[in-house]
Amino acid sequence: MTPPQQFSALKGVQDIFPPDVHLWQKVESLSREVFSLYGFEEIRLPIIEPTGLFVRSIGETSDIVEKEMYTFPDKAGRSITLRPEGTAPVVRAYIEHHLYNLPSPQKFFYSGPMFRYERPQKGRFRQFYQIGVEAFGAVSPLLDAELLSMLKILLERLGMKDLNFEINSVGCGNCRPAYRTALRDFFSAKLGSLCPDCQRRYEANPLRILDCKVDRCIELRAGAPFITDFLCSECKDHFEKVLSALRRLNIPYTLNPNMVRGLDYYTRTAFEVTSEHLGSQKAVAAGGRYDRLVEEFGGPPTPGMGFALGMERLTELLRETGEIVGPFPDVYIAPLGERAIMEGFLMAERLRARGFLVESGYDGSSLRSQLRKANRITARFVIILGEDELSSGRAKWKNLGDGSQGDVEIRKVEEFLASASPGKPR
Ligand code: HAM
Repeated sequence: MTPPQQFSALKGVQDIFPPDVHLWQKVESLSREVFSLYGFEEIRLPIIEPTGLFVRSIGETSDIVEKEMYTFPDKAGRSITLRPEGTAPVVRAYIEHHLYNLPSPQKFFYSGPMFRYERPQKGRFRQFYQIGVEAFGAVSPLLDAELLSMLKILLERLGMKDLNFEINSVGCGNCRPAYRTALRDFFSAKLGSLCPDCQRRYEANPLRILDCKVDRCIELRAGAPFITDFLCSECKDHFEKVLSALRRLNIPYTLNPNMVRGLDYYTRTAFEVTSEHLGSQKAVAAGGRYDRLVEEFGGPPTPGMGFALGMERLTELLRETGEIVGPFPDVYIAPLGERAIMEGFLMAERLRARGFLVESGYDGSSLRSQLRKANRITARFVIILGEDELSSGRAKWKNLGDGSQGDVEIRKVEEFLASASPGKPR
């Protein structure tokens, strides 16, 4: 016989299991609820995409494309990439299926794993999950404010506090040339001290120097010119209208003129929602406008805007709030003896068919150990079924919440539980 071999999960990935998975489910279901208030519908997309999709959209000089993509040839030699983000795939699908022919704005949300070969640390994984939204076809600054408001409402409904909405405008193709020149002028004297990647970026795309994660480059960019001083009149006007709408909605924000975001496709509004409770990886959600991307991929000129929430960081914050989320059993059935085990088993199935969450013992353990288990899993009621109960036709019940107890006709247990549990059966 071959000796057993143990395997561990790969570095930078994690298993998600109870009780943590309940936090994940809560975020997922609340997101669906809030997004649907705003007309967002789900889109499900592949995890693998052609590599060029990300190279062209996120940008050749970005950290993601330069260093972090899981890229490999498939068996036919095509270059495949495990998606590092969701925006480019949604844009691809939007164009491929001519979704622009449907009435605008088109609004989608998605959730699922993303992959980036980053150095793992707290809040940074190689497989991580995002919930994201993308809206197409609305140029109005009110859409920007609406998306930020939707995000704020979702985060508030999740009970999150102390969040900071950082916002910037990264301009458009008209504002960028003058800004690039100003950046090159600023960095020209420091060029030799920048990391080798940034030395390349200096020529190809100096904006990316502002997003470099190397400490030395972070120090050297202090005092660099701000994009907001180079905005064209249309971008300036758009940004002012976004900020004014945010004020009307009472959404507090912080202007962060240093924020350029790590992906090349952004135009105009860019934002990050950060929390000081998260350590160095503090962005819990981020997004912005990408008004040129659809056209760059061969679609009709269509503005776009969206954001993505990082599930690991979000659930980390929720864990800190200490909230316990169910599901807790409505009832634990404790049978004693062979005959009662079968009766309890049948009763559990009847109750589940009526919508009750039921756990039932069938390993013949003592009443004491079954009660201990019922307490541990935080069941609301225990139903005790022994020989005496079977012969009298009346089961004992105990409410573990308030300690009350009594007995009930076995064939009326469903009615009893229904009347004792408002909202049940579901
Ligand atoms: P992003 O800023 O690269 O933007 O990622 C969005 C969020 O995903 C981050 O704020 C963070 O919470 C989470 N995240 C990113 N990388 C990791 C990682 N390695 N480990 C754990 N969490 C991570 C985008 O991906 C854009 N597609 C967002 C967007 C949508 N823009 C417009 N529409």
